[in-house]
Amino acid sequence: MTVKINENYLLLKSNYIFAEIDQRVDNFGKENPEADIIRMGIGDVTRPLPSAVVSEFKKAVLDMGDADKFHGYGPYQGYDFLLDQIIEKDYASRGIELSNNEVFVSDGAKCDTGNIQEIFSLDNTVAVTDPVYPVYVDSNVMAGRTGAMSKNGRYQKLVYLPCTEDNEFIPELPAEQVDLIYLCYPNNPTGTTLNKAQLKEWVDYAMDNKSIILYDAAYESYIQEDNIPHSIYEVEGAREVAIEFRSFSKNAAFTGVRCAFTVVPEELSGFDSQGNVYDLNSMWMRRQTSKFNGVSYPVQIAAKAVYSPEGQKEIRESVDYYMNNASIILRSLEKIGLRVYGGVNSPYIWIKTPGKMDSWQFFDLLLEKAHIVGTPGVGFGPSGEGYLRLTAFNSLKNTEAAMARIAKLQSEI
Ligand code: MLT
Repeated sequence: MTVKINENYLLLKSNYIFAEIDQRVDNFGKENPEADIIRMGIGDVTRPLPSAVVSEFKKAVLDMGDADKFHGYGPYQGYDFLLDQIIEKDYASRGIELSNNEVFVSDGAKCDTGNIQEIFSLDNTVAVTDPVYPVYVDSNVMAGRTGAMSKNGRYQKLVYLPCTEDNEFIPELPAEQVDLIYLCYPNNPTGTTLNKAQLKEWVDYAMDNKSIILYDAAYESYIQEDNIPHSIYEVEGAREVAIEFRSFSKNAAFTGVRCAFTVVPEELSGFDSQGNVYDLNSMWMRRQTSKFNGVSYPVQIAAKAVYSPEGQKEIRESVDYYMNNASIILRSLEKIGLRVYGGVNSPYIWIKTPGKMDSWQFFDLLLEKAHIVGTPGVGFGPSGEGYLRLTAFNSLKNTEAAMARIAKLQSEI
């Protein structure tokens, strides 16, 4: 035996939460083939690609079969035709200036939020909100930055920032200095948000402590309220301390197509062990050129079509459709006495489990008695225990049916 494995993998929880849920639901489905299961677990969209996207996507695929229009490897950071749209429509329209070399088109915010830690030393301390999107934690476990998991379900070297009913899901600033801070707003999984003043506290903390904020804004398009920032760069100083991740998955149904982007401003820097300064934009570029060959031409053409007037209209309709589901879920669950959060600027509804039920008990009750799949809150971290997440990504019909089924369980919850 000569090949040694990366033993950090042994420190991971045995299953990725959504894989674990799939397994349990598959087993339930096999034992109960008649059950009409409504899936409100994983945050995957259910509405198709906008027609404005599909028609451009098709044309670009045909171009790839035409010797005169064929495209091979594209630019590492993405084609200018897409970068220009991103900068103009997502940022300049909000008063944020970015240049093309600060935006990196990629095949997903999951990959980028998972990979970004590679450009940082293993010595950095990492803070995560708790509950949290598991990718931030797992990628740091794999890299060897977290140590082992303690009995309380927390990795020894991670700094956890609990978000619960007690603090209205607003994380407190870390008591100690931390180097890297993962924030996701609108939040996955709680569906809650930070307003501009609250986000400014984080930017100020990062400036005072020389930290970097890794800001996941994948759910930005679900923001409905005026005082909620769509980008961390709306906050003064953020260009010096924050990397932002965006995605076409949740707004434009690209979960199966794959396209996203990451903003790494030129002002961002880090130090080597000798105290020399390096700019993070160049480091991320260096990483991408070795490990990533860009998003396919047809997919980038499809992403560009998201910004066309017709594309914008269609994605607004989809977001409104899901947000109507979200408000139905909120109202229906409140009516039967459950405590529910999120769902106002986000497609996620975070439910306090009733009585003394833990997250998995409530998951089992919903699956077995109502044939509804949620995501147990504890799967997102120890402070998620006692909560369960439902998504609004479903048809109106299924959403209404699911709510009617849960209402019938009222005596048990
Ligand atoms: C979720 O359900 O939390 C999402 O599917 C996460 C993701 O987009 O990977």
